[in-house]
Amino acid sequence: MKGVVLAGGTGTRLYPVTLIVNKHFLPIYNKPMIYYPLSLIMLLKLRDVLLIVNPDDKKDFERLFGDGTKLGISIKYQIQEKPNGLAEGLVLAEEFIGDDNVCYMLGDNVFFGHNLVKILEEAKKDVEENGGAYVFGYSVKEPERFGVVEFDESGNVISIEEKPKNPKSNYAVVGMYFYDNEAVEIAKRVEPSDRGELEITSVNEEYLRRGRLKVKLLGRGFAWFDAGTHESFLEAGEFVATIEKKTGLMIGCIEEIAYRNGWIDREQLLELAKPLAKTDYGKYLIELAEGED
Ligand code: G1P
Repeated sequence: MKGVVLAGGTGTRLYPVTLIVNKHFLPIYNKPMIYYPLSLIMLLKLRDVLLIVNPDDKKDFERLFGDGTKLGISIKYQIQEKPNGLAEGLVLAEEFIGDDNVCYMLGDNVFFGHNLVKILEEAKKDVEENGGAYVFGYSVKEPERFGVVEFDESGNVISIEEKPKNPKSNYAVVGMYFYDNEAVEIAKRVEPSDRGELEITSVNEEYLRRGRLKVKLLGRGFAWFDAGTHESFLEAGEFVATIEKKTGLMIGCIEEIAYRNGWIDREQLLELAKPLAKTDYGKYLIELAEGED
């Protein structure tokens, strides 16, 4: 399975903050937003990653991650000329995905929860073994901001709608999607929505029509933020700060994950920590490198 992160878009919902800075570089507490989705891909042990980026921002992403070697992974970049929608990302990733399956993440989504990785591993395994699409629903107060999934009494999915005016449930489809290889062809046939975008919801709808869509609910023990608005951006940062200060453990720390996965050694970890040494982030990495055998 390949990992693709969509980090394009103009961030208009975060203006004026994002007038000149791509939102994925903004800090969710102590690290850039893009670290969070990337960390989940790494936790799934996926080492082949494609970042879909705006033409103007590609060089900055490259400055941040290079080709991924320093994290023990491979990162490639694909330009999205215009923010034409999430489904277009799958089409742009066609060559990279090849004949593989894909874990498709949105660059502004932040997740936290007990057993999250286990749940994602199940989704990955399911798609690898049975094909189809596997997505997640999460109860939110303002479902009209998202893709919304409707269930019947036995819990079967009956509809999925993008930003409905009258949502049929409170369950938003979160920005983390597992697809078999069909997704690319399905995405190619998607027509622009009323807001002029190629919607990922249309891809999910097609899987639903084929009887190939699984939706798992993330329950109360989870936190999910689409950090694309001023409010949710701040909330996500406050949440991460609270958890990290309480537990002394970091969320979305890509260097730690690379190290614990055995993709980089102690020396390499210390090398990554060096320029960060004045921060708690850097100290955390140094402690990690020195603390364990
Ligand atoms: C996008 C999707 C939507 C999904 C949301 C999750 O919305 O279109 O279905 O629920 O991401 O973050 P957008 O960020 O484009 O408003």
